[in-house]
Amino acid sequence: MKTILITGGAGFIGSHVVRLFVNKYPDYSIINLDALTYAGNLENLRDIETQNNYQFIKGDITDIDFINNLFTKYNIDGVVHLAAESHVDRSIEDPMAFINTNVLGTVNLLNAAKESWKNFEGKRFYHISTDEVYGSLGDEGMFLETTAYDPKSPYSAAKASSDHFVRAYHNTYKLPVVITNCSNNYGPNQFPEKLIPLVINNIKNKKPLPVYGKGENIRDWLYVEDHAKAIDLVFHQGTIGETYNIGGKNEWKNIDLVRALCRVMDENLQRPNGESEKLITFVKDRAGHDLRYAIDCSKIVSELGWQPELDFENGIRKTVDWYLENEDWLEHIVSGEYENYYKQQYNNR
Ligand code: NAD
Ligand code: DAU
Repeated sequence: MKTILITGGAGFIGSHVVRLFVNKYPDYSIINLDALTYAGNLENLRDIETQNNYQFIKGDITDIDFINNLFTKYNIDGVVHLAAESHVDRSIEDPMAFINTNVLGTVNLLNAAKESWKNFEGKRFYHISTDEVYGSLGDEGMFLETTAYDPKSPYSAAKASSDHFVRAYHNTYKLPVVITNCSNNYGPNQFPEKLIPLVINNIKNKKPLPVYGKGENIRDWLYVEDHAKAIDLVFHQGTIGETYNIGGKNEWKNIDLVRALCRVMDENLQRPNGESEKLITFVKDRAGHDLRYAIDCSKIVSELGWQPELDFENGIRKTVDWYLENEDWLEHIVSGEYENYYKQQYNNR
């Protein structure tokens, strides 16, 4: 029996990873450790919460004693570390929260693993990171694993710092680590502060669709379950000390993506074609907005045989269907804290 600690398992990507591991590995004991910040939601895991290879523990990775006690109490074999502050706009308002969780929290976990693992045989610390650490591209080029780090936002600077600590612990203490850097995820359970669910929710409620600047920024989009499958693969077969880039081979200009969502939503809600596009509103740009991200994921493709499976057309349709079928999930989120956040970000923008 292996005990795997998944941090941030109540969040968007984490909940898909927890579900995959719990269902696929009945002989593992899966511990989901999550502080349940605004982004953590146990409703994401209702379908698996009673399985006997799963347990949820509420806790904060910035709490050193708590993390050390956890590693003492449970004989943890592997860590899949997803807990983080994840939203760029929030990092612009409050960088310190990102330094605390993304940097200090990660170092707490590294220390706990280093101290409690008497020898590193069979152990693995897997750190989940982002393509944003590489900075911003112009019209040409793609991020490779060897691309120099050049983070531009407080979020990506904190993630870059955590990546450096993970590598430093491998280099200095031989901690058995792997890192992946992935592009933009989309799919069910994503908090509606992020572009795709925000646009779906606003179209549903006939609210303006805020497009930053001229909508010319480009992102590469990957369906969240394809990311979870890549994480499973790297956790089990990735080479210790290595980094793998993960991407969808699927670049979209924001404005084109928002228009595509408008078309799918009009169809689904049986509204006249073109109705939702009228809601598009160009607003003040994000400070320091990275122009383009593009991932070269040929290493994980050739070395581990991973491929993104779901094409974007079907991924977007599945995502839209999920949000329209799970109104309760959305309703529970878009009240309270979210309303305050929304007003602060978008009123007077
Ligand atoms: P999310 O914001 O949806 O979820 C983060 C989770 O971490 C939440 O459940 C939250 O409660 C938990 N958390 C936050 N602070 C914590 C703390 N101090 N202690 C314990 N738990 C805490 O994020 P996500 O989009 O699912 O991203 C997960 C990871 O993947 C992050 O590390 C992020 O940087 C990385 N990533 C995300 C994307 C993306 O497109 N969303 C792409 C590449 C990499
Ligand atoms: O690239 C991976 C990263 O993708 C992850 O590491 C982050 O955790 C994740 O949040 C995401 O970051 P982005 O900043 O790219 O995602 P976001 O959904 O916030 O924005 C996507 C693009 O859409 C970006 O160019 C900004 C733009 N945007 C976003 C919002 C919320 C808008 O035009 N309007 C909006 O209201």
